Amino acid sequence: MLIVFVSLFYEKKTHIPPVPTLPWVKKKILQLLLKHSNKDAPLKIAELGSGWGGVTFQLAKKFPNAHVTGFEISPFPYWYSKIRQTLSHKKVNFTKNSFYDVNLSDFDVIICYLSPQHMAWLKDKFEDELKSDTLIISNAFPILDWPTIDEDETNIFVKIPVFVYKT
Ligand SMILES: C[S@@+](CC[C@H](N)C(=O)[O-])C[C@H]1O[C@@H](n2cnc3c(N)ncnc32)[C@H](O)[C@@H]1O
Repeated sequence: MLIVFVSLFYEKKTHIPPVPTLPWVKKKILQLLLKHSNKDAPLKIAELGSGWGGVTFQLAKKFPNAHVTGFEISPFPYWYSKIRQTLSHKKVNFTKNSFYDVNLSDFDVIICYLSPQHMAWLKDKFEDELKSDTLIISNAFPILDWPTIDEDETNIFVKIPVFVYKT
């Protein structure tokens, strides 16, 4: 009962449930990131809304020299990721801060799977804060009026676009 109540509360607060990225979309995101960045560079990667941590752990695995941070405000997905990270000793960092309350200027790469509304809110934040050459990969939802540098899609059951931007 408590789990349902807390989950519904955070879904209302964040305007989005902690739906995980589909495995084939995860693969596409990683392919696009590998295509547009240096796998061995000490990149600072942020996943905005890291949910249960599935994408964050894959990023840490594929980019062993990167510093990967997952921002997740909803308690159950956050604690699940945190416990998994502690048990696996994986080199990732999860924080329960809202990504709106954090300055993102330090990051080289931003990954997100959010909503059209969040992308509209983030657009201003990205324009204000991100340094030049920051790579942004957005699963499913574009940043309106921003030109993409790349775009791809998966088409298993349903078409899902993945958008790539550079500031
Ligand atoms: C659709 S889920 C994506 C989960 C994960 N990225 C994945 O692909 O498996 C979006 C997540 O963003 C989180 N979220 C929404 N607003 C947030 C905020 N302001 N700060 C941190 N997390 C937030 C939600 O709690 C939810 O878990």
